[in-house]
Amino acid sequence: MSTEILELYPNPGRQHALQGLYLDQMPPDDGARDPFIYSNYISSLDGRIALPAAGRQTGQVPPEIGNDRDWRLFQELAAQADLLITSGRYFRQTEVQEEQAELPVGSAPEFADLREWRIQRGMSPQPDIAIFSASLDIPIPAIRRQADRNVYIITGANADDSRLTRLVSGSHARAIHCGSGDHVDASLLRPRLAELGCRNVYAIAGPAVLHTLIAGDALDRLYLTTAHCVLGGTAFNTFVRGPQLKPARRMPLRAMYLDPLAPEGTGQTMAVYGC
Ligand SMILES: NC(=O)c1ccc[n+]([C@@H]2O[C@H](COP(=O)([O-])OP(=O)(O)OC[C@H]3O[C@@H](n4cnc5c(N)ncnc54)[C@H](OP(=O)(O)O)[C@@H]3O)[C@@H](O)[C@H]2O)c1
Repeated sequence: MSTEILELYPNPGRQHALQGLYLDQMPPDDGARDPFIYSNYISSLDGRIALPAAGRQTGQVPPEIGNDRDWRLFQELAAQADLLITSGRYFRQTEVQEEQAELPVGSAPEFADLREWRIQRGMSPQPDIAIFSASLDIPIPAIRRQADRNVYIITGANADDSRLTRLVSGSHARAIHCGSGDHVDASLLRPRLAELGCRNVYAIAGPAVLHTLIAGDALDRLYLTTAHCVLGGTAFNTFVRGPQLKPARRMPLRAMYLDPLAPEGTGQTMAVYGC
């Protein structure tokens, strides 16, 4: 089976192996640059990133679009991160076994090279975790299960103090205030991340967190895989949810690739936008 990916832009016709395509992607780091913040989604042609699923309280990535080849690239992006941004929602999902996957970098044998990649570069074995939450409804056992990583709960200064105290005293998580309301104001995020020593930050949460980042000018790059199929459905998520962005966030194309092998029989394009 060919593992080759066809580059469409900027060098049309070049072939790449899937493995390694998204490694060594981060901008050069002289130690003085701002934290670099990036995110990644897989979408259908009609813009669905999640649909309801029988027996689940929350939506999920539709199985028609989710695939191992895109998942490999997701893991490569995670391997380069010091910190993952996730949400209170993800941690609640883990308590009812509804999360779609463990937090990366995955423990499966096929990602051993990525775990090794981190060690060779003197990085911690796993990226740390930032949980965006306004409700602070985060199950303490779910935080404790991440004992091998630093965990930061990022919230607004007006969020419920007693809940925050309970979370911090009941786990190894640290609290970080970012914004004056109860929600995170991402226009203040970069200096907070810099204080933590973060260089590369990967947002793996959903559309409300991505909206927060874009609205606060705290998204540098978007990796977007488009699976070549149409799903329909009326209750769905796109990759951004929130008030209209004014002005619109412009994200010029950096690169685009064609993967003919997945989803089977149709393929997918992988685009990289931003800086
Ligand atoms: N196809 C893909 O590539 C892809 C990728 C990611 C997610 N998804 C899917 O997208 C769906 C929706 O994901 P989701 O609901 O987990 O993501 P989400 O909409 O980004 O996250 C929601 C939670 O994030 C917290 N949050 C968001 N903005 C915040 C802010 N400004 N300040 C503080 N907290 C904030 C809130 O937590 P609290 O409620 O604790 O306050 C909120 O409930 C899921 O079905 C997921 O599977 C798909």
